[in-house]
Amino acid sequence: MDVLVTGATGFVGGALVPRLLDAGHRVRCLVRDRARLTAPWRADVEVVEGRVESEQAVLRAADGAEAAFFLVHGMGSSARHLVERERAAAAAFRDGVELGGVRHVVYLGGLVDEAALATTSVHLYARQQAGVELRRGTVPVTELRAGIVLGQGSASFDLLVTAARSPVALEAPWSGSLTQPIAVEDLLALLLAVVAAPPGRHLTLDVGGPDVVTYAELVRRTRAVLGTGRGLPVRVPYLPPEALALSAAQLAGVPPSLALGLLPSAQHDAVVRDERLEQWYPGVAVTPLDTALAAAVGARTQRAAVDASAGTPG
Ligand SMILES: NC(=O)c1ccc[n+]([C@@H]2O[C@H](COP(=O)([O-])OP(=O)(O)OC[C@H]3O[C@@H](n4cnc5c(N)ncnc54)[C@H](OP(=O)(O)O)[C@@H]3O)[C@@H](O)[C@H]2O)c1
Repeated sequence: MDVLVTGATGFVGGALVPRLLDAGHRVRCLVRDRARLTAPWRADVEVVEGRVESEQAVLRAADGAEAAFFLVHGMGSSARHLVERERAAAAAFRDGVELGGVRHVVYLGGLVDEAALATTSVHLYARQQAGVELRRGTVPVTELRAGIVLGQGSASFDLLVTAARSPVALEAPWSGSLTQPIAVEDLLALLLAVVAAPPGRHLTLDVGGPDVVTYAELVRRTRAVLGTGRGLPVRVPYLPPEALALSAAQLAGVPPSLALGLLPSAQHDAVVRDERLEQWYPGVAVTPLDTALAAAVGARTQRAAVDASAGTPG
């Protein structure tokens, strides 16, 4: 099938494209800057330059495609008016793919508690609102809501590794929030399964791996895989995650605005509340947390070695 992928220069989109090609699909990528698309599969895809906020650019890229992946977010730039910007981008994408004749949109959003939207982080609210906007059209949308995706190149995984390498094991009030990360390999298998078997109507599914842990436990397990020891426990009775974001971003090498978007989400439980994933796409989110962490750390180490031998910063 002809498939449009946005976010192909990013973590999820960049990992998805070769899987789609391997599965026999023809792939068109909508990217803001074609020079940033340097992956080895670059010659095997059609590239259209443009932004998702431009309905015309989306239409050019979507024309003739059967399915379209919405794998972008606006968190890398300023947090000002994030919700409005995310809504506008989703609306332009929705209208562009509809005009282009696309029959199925797949959107990867964030794990959000619909019952607690009023207290959720701006970042998660913006992701939820993008889904609402996409569903205002006539093209059926499958929204997959994921928490932390464990894999090389994931900003949330980079922040986790930074925490696990710290000599200090911070215990903040939100360290006890629950999280349910998913292995990138499981997520990619799910994205392929969804595009191969579209539900045929709007559908939103919570997505997570088999293990639910606190953030503190997640950092402990990552420390065990990295071999960085237990860290010096320091309890802080009050620490807004935003206070950590800038230093964590610098250490992790992720944009500060992205860390400022991601870390406050830790104040809320990010877990699967609706268990319908297994009914729709059985047997995909199965990799145990420790296995997923070991694979992601292994891929990270391998990537660092390749970067070092090429003389590029890791
Ligand atoms: N990583 C995770 O742990 C995680 C967890 C849950 C959900 N998700 C969701 O998965 C999706 C992809 O996330 P990711 O981790 O792959 O993000 P990422 O690595 O930061 O990539 C973001 C991609 O979006 C592109 N982009 C941003 N704004 C754009 C615009 N206006 N027009 C066109 N392209 C634009 C970027 O292109 P440039 O190269 O031009 O910047 C980049 O390719 C997002 O919806 C995110 O919410 C991710």
